[in-house]
Amino acid sequence: MSMPLIKTARFITSAVEPAQYPQHHVPEIAFAGRSNVGKSSLINVLLGRKKLVRTSSRPGQTQTINFFMINEELCFVDLPGYGYAQAPKRVRIKWGPMVNQYLSQRKNLKGVVLLLDVRRKPSEGDTTLLTWLKDCSKNTVIVATKADKISRNQRASVVKQVASEIAFDGKPIFFSAHTGEGREEIWTALGPLIWP
Ligand code: GTP
Ligand code: MG
Repeated sequence: MSMPLIKTARFITSAVEPAQYPQHHVPEIAFAGRSNVGKSSLINVLLGRKKLVRTSSRPGQTQTINFFMINEELCFVDLPGYGYAQAPKRVRIKWGPMVNQYLSQRKNLKGVVLLLDVRRKPSEGDTTLLTWLKDCSKNTVIVATKADKISRNQRASVVKQVASEIAFDGKPIFFSAHTGEGREEIWTALGPLIWP
């Protein structure tokens, strides 16, 4: 499946606990990864909207679970990032339960896009999350983002590193929010999860 026509894309709500999640029956795809890896930017590019989701060069921009309705038939869920040591303590403490609850309890959740920065070794947070996603058989798409920051030749070593560090045997999808590379490929991976 290639990119669907995005007729409407709108912010629905922010939540920090299950009671605040929207009550609807559409499938949800969540975007996870460390702070500043580019989750919010990826959502904007997938939807072809420049400013739907707020992004920032400062880590810790997204601090709540944010829901975006697409074509009234699908929901993208932007998660706060992990591993940002400078985050205020109260935010750091809340991150675990906030995101764990969503990922483990949400019935609408059909897939998780896990973002890794091509320039960085996968972190402990990345490994923990991927192991957990595997253990509970969540459909996971791995995206190696900021691909514009490395040369084509460097990509093979990124694939190797991802395979060895986080025991992921598939190839990550290389993506760049700057060039749009990888956008179609991500939609193609998400299609069967959203519309099985
Ligand atoms: P938190 O909300 O803090 O968890 O961060 P995030 O993962 O949502 O990251 P965000 O999308 O806000 O992007 C963080 C920074 O990385 C911004 O300055 C973006 O412009 C930049 N960025 C995101 N994607 C790319 C990319 O593909 N290439 C390059 N070069 N920069 C990117
Ligand atoms: Mg964000």
